[in-house]
Amino acid sequence: MMEIVILPDGAAVGAAAAARIAAVVRRRPEAVLGLATGSSPLGAYGALAGLVARGEVDLSRVSAFALDEYVGLTPESPQSYAATIRRDAVEPLGLDPARVRVPPGDAVDLEAGALEYDRAIREAGGVDVQLLGIGANGHIGFNEPTSSFASRTRIKTLAPRTREDNARFFDGDLDQVPLHCITQGLGTILEARQLLLVAQGEAKAAAVAAAVEGPLTAMVPASALQLHPDAIVLLDEAAASRLTLADYYRFTYAHKPDWQRVD
Ligand code: F6R
Repeated sequence: MMEIVILPDGAAVGAAAAARIAAVVRRRPEAVLGLATGSSPLGAYGALAGLVARGEVDLSRVSAFALDEYVGLTPESPQSYAATIRRDAVEPLGLDPARVRVPPGDAVDLEAGALEYDRAIREAGGVDVQLLGIGANGHIGFNEPTSSFASRTRIKTLAPRTREDNARFFDGDLDQVPLHCITQGLGTILEARQLLLVAQGEAKAAAVAAAVEGPLTAMVPASALQLHPDAIVLLDEAAASRLTLADYYRFTYAHKPDWQRVD
C-alpha cells in the first residue's frame, strides 16, 4: 500500500520520518537503513538526532547504505555524498562509520563497484527502511527519467535539470557538477522493506503528484513507489498542493486506526 500523509510544515515531515525510522530501529537495533542526501532528509536527520540525544533511540548498531554518489569525487571531497552522509547523518546520529557505505564513485572499475554494492546490500540482509527525496524531474536516487523499474546499482548520466538543481552545492558553478553518478537502481530501491519518501516545498509539487497519482511510467521514476507494498509519502502542504485527492488523504490519516499509528 502507499500511504500519503500531508503535514503542516517541513518540521512535521522531519519529525514523522524520524518517528518511523526510530520505530524500525527499536524493533531491530541492528536494522539496515537506506540514507538519502540533499536538502529533503535534513529535517528527518535533525529530528532523529534529537531522539538520539534524549536517549529515545540508539542508532549505534545500525548499518546503512546511501543511495548514490557522484562519479569522480573522492570520499574526502566535501561535495561527495560520502562526505555529505558523514556530516548530515553519521556524526549527528551517532552511526558507526564502519557500517555505513556509499556507492564507490571513485572506483577504478565502476561497473564492478556497482555490482559489489548491490551484493553488499543483499549480504547485509536488505534495507529495512529507505529514506528518499524526490527530484523536481521525478527522480529517486539518481534514477533519472526513463530509468528502468528493474534497474540495479549502476552508472548514470545526470539530467541537465539535476545538475542545475545541485549546482548550489558547487558554489553555483554548473561546470563543477559531475556529469555522472553511481546510483542504486529502481529495482534495488524497491527491494527495501519500507520506503519513506519526504518532500517539502512547491518546487516538488508537480513531481509528487505525477509520482503518486499519475500513471506508472519510467518518465517519472518515483512512480515506482506505486509498486511497493509499504511506501509512505510524507509531504508538507506546499509539496502536496497539486494532489487531486488531498482531502481524501487527510481524511484517511485523521481516521487511521490507533493500531496503525507510529507517531
Ligand atoms: C540524494 C538523492 C536525490 C535527492 C533529490 C532531491 O541522495 O538521491 O534523489 O533526494 O534530488 O534533492 P533535494 O532533497 O536536495 O531537493
